[in-house]
Amino acid sequence: MLAAGLRGRDRRRPGIAGARGYNIVTPMLFKNLREEIDATLARDPAARSRLEVVLCYPGFQVLLFHRAAHWLWQRHWHLAGRFVAHLGRILTAIDIHPGARIGNRLFIDHGIGVVIGETAEIGDDCTLYQGVTLGGTRPSADQAGQKRHPTIGNGCIISSNAQILGPFKVGDGARIGAAAVVLREVPPGATMVGNPARQVARRTPSLEPRPAFEPYGVTGDIPDPIARALNGLVDEVTSLRARVAELERDAAGKPGVEAEASGPAEPAMRAVS
Ligand SMILES: CC(C)(COP(=O)(O)OP(=O)(O)OC[C@H]1O[C@@H](n2cnc3c(N)ncnc32)[C@H](O)[C@@H]1OP(=O)(O)O)[C@@H](O)C(=O)NCCC(=O)NCCS
Repeated sequence: MLAAGLRGRDRRRPGIAGARGYNIVTPMLFKNLREEIDATLARDPAARSRLEVVLCYPGFQVLLFHRAAHWLWQRHWHLAGRFVAHLGRILTAIDIHPGARIGNRLFIDHGIGVVIGETAEIGDDCTLYQGVTLGGTRPSADQAGQKRHPTIGNGCIISSNAQILGPFKVGDGARIGAAAVVLREVPPGATMVGNPARQVARRTPSLEPRPAFEPYGVTGDIPDPIARALNGLVDEVTSLRARVAELERDAAGKPGVEAEASGPAEPAMRAVS
């Protein structure tokens, strides 16, 4: 009876089940994997397939290492956790401390040089670009065990080389500009730029719907170059037609010129019509 009860509990708690010899790898490494791959596909216009994301995206690969490292860290296997995180760093050039807490669907684009400290927390659906640091301001041994790193809310965008330093909160939906140095709490929805970072815009979602962030400025409604070239040609033909019609009207109004003008004008009309 007791054994049956334990088995039931173990199925609900994969970590404990793993410690007793059941399969821990599947739930630990593959939970929400598809969501994370799809988050990459949705946010990077350069990504073409799930396989490409799995094989070629360090931001995705490092999350696999982090899951394993964080699982070990939470069970006080600190050295093993650090070692797994270190392997992830060797492969991806992204340094995530195994103690950091990371939500679902994080997308780390390019990733090189990203550093995420031990007590950092990241909400769901965030995007980080290369060179981002979620760090502490005064790293020293006497701060061990204290909260030293920022807490990032849901849906935040942290642009390339932004430095967010200190144990404060970055509100949901905030955008941190490239190379910004953020040293204080950031309100939800704020855009922070510069060093030290200042707020340049804050939109209240209920009052002003916020446009979706378009990585690399790519939007769905920009026509492709061939379509744009064709549109240009159509405009050109339209204006030439109008000009020819105008010339014909002028020529028709001038006695004596009509006969002369009608000769060359005809082939031109045939060419554009
Ligand atoms: C922070 C960011 C996401 C803000 O985007 P946004 O909310 O659309 O804001 P806007 O582009 O309208 O900019 C708002 C204001 O901040 C300024 N600004 C934006 N980013 C800035 C930056 N990194 N540093 C300084 N000023 C910046 C703009 O000039 C603008 O100023 P203005 O109102 O005086 O004209 C964006 O500017 C950014 O930094 N993107 C970089 C993304 C990135 O890292 N890409 C790397 C891909 S490899």
